[in-house]
Amino acid sequence: GAHVLIDTYGRVATDLRVSLTDRCNLRCTYCMPEEGLQWLAKPDLLTDDEIVRLVRIAVTRLGIQEVRFTGGEPLLRPGLVGIVERCAALEPRPRMSLTTNGIGLKRTAKALKEAGLDRVNVSLDTLRPDVFKTLTRRDRHRDVLEGLEAARDAGLTPVKVNTVLMPGLNDDEAPDLLAWAVENDYELRFIEQMPLDAQHGWKRDGMITAGDILASLRTRFTLTEEGTEKRGSAPAERWVVDGGPHRVGVIASVTRPFCSACDRTRLTADGQVRTCLFATEETDLRAALRAAPEGAADGADGSGDADGSDGSDEEIARIWRLAMWGKKAGSGLDDPSF
Ligand code: GTP
Ligand code: 5AD
Ligand code: SF4
Repeated sequence: GAHVLIDTYGRVATDLRVSLTDRCNLRCTYCMPEEGLQWLAKPDLLTDDEIVRLVRIAVTRLGIQEVRFTGGEPLLRPGLVGIVERCAALEPRPRMSLTTNGIGLKRTAKALKEAGLDRVNVSLDTLRPDVFKTLTRRDRHRDVLEGLEAARDAGLTPVKVNTVLMPGLNDDEAPDLLAWAVENDYELRFIEQMPLDAQHGWKRDGMITAGDILASLRTRFTLTEEGTEKRGSAPAERWVVDGGPHRVGVIASVTRPFCSACDRTRLTADGQVRTCLFATEETDLRAALRAAPEGAADGADGSGDADGSDGSDEEIARIWRLAMWGKKAGSGLDDPSF
C-alpha cells in the first residue's frame, strides 16, 4: 500500500540494516583505531524488546522485506539468537541475514540457523595468519576460518566472504582468495576501501579499485559478466568464474557508485535512523519508543484499536517515513572534499 519508505528520488527501502552493538573484538585498520571507539553506554542501546518492536513496525507498516543484522560485531550481542527467533515469528516473516567477522560463529551457527537466520556474510581479508594479525590487530585468523566452515555446514548459505584489499598488505592475494573461495564454496566479494574509519586515514590515491581487482583476478581466471538484470539493488556486481557455477563480486562504492538503486534504511544500536551508510544526520526513534511503550495506545483490554493499529507504533512509523523523505541522492563520495 502507500505505507512504504520512499524518498524524494522515488527509491523505496525494503532492506533494513540493524546495528546490534557498536563494539567489536577486532580492530581492522580501515575501520577502527587500536584503542577502539567511545562505546555506547548500555542504557543507550536498544533493548532486545525494542529491536524486535522496531523490526515489527518495519515489516508490518513500512514494507521492509529483508533484515540484516550488523555491528560493530553482531555476535557480541548476547540476545542475538533470541532476537532472530522473535523476528522469524513476525508476519510477514522477513528474510534475515548477518554480517559478521566470524569470530564465535563456530559456536552459534547451528542455533542461529534453527532460530530462523537465512544466511551470513563473513569478513576475511587474507589467507595469511600474519597478515590477518597486522590488518585486524588481533591473532584470530583460525577462529574466522572455523566460523566460516560452521556457517556453511549449518546451511547459512550462500556464505559470502567480504574482502577489502589494502595496498602493500594483501593486494597481491586476490587470485589466491578466489581459488580458496571456489574450493570451499564461498561467494567472494571484493570491496573498495571506503572512507568509513574514525581516523580518516582514507585516501583516494593508492586505493585498490574495482579495475585493479578485476585485472589481478584475470591473470588466473576467466571472468564473464553476469547479466545486469540479476543485480537489482545489490551493491555487488558479479562475474562468473571460469564458466561457472561460482561467482565473484566487486562492491565498487567509490569508482562505480550504485546509489540510484539504493533500497536501504538503517538503524543504529542506539535507535537512530540513518538513511545512508555515509549519512551524518540521524533521526531519533528511541525517544519515541521510550515515550510510548509497546501497547501504550491499546484499549484497557490490550486488544488495540479496532483496525489493528496502535497509535504509538504508527507514530514511530511516521517518524521513520519522514526521515527517509530526507534521504540524499548519493553518498557524497564524489565530493572532492572527501
Ligand atoms: P548482500 O549481498 O545481500 O549480502 O548485501 P551486502 O553486500 O550489502 O552486505 P554486507 O553487509 O556484506 O556489505 C558488504 C559491503 O558493502 C560492506 O563493505 C558495506 O559497507 C558495503 N555496503 C553495505 N551497504 C551499503 C550501502 O548502502 N552503500 C554502500 N556504498 N556500501 C554499502
Ligand atoms: N571500506 C570498505 N569496507 C569496509 N568494511 C568495514 N570498513 C570498511 C571500509 N572502510 C567492511 C568490512 C565488512 C563489511 C561490513 O564492511 O570488511 O566486510
Ligand atoms: Fe545507499 Fe548511501 Fe550506500 Fe548510496 S552510499 S548505496 S545512498 S546507503
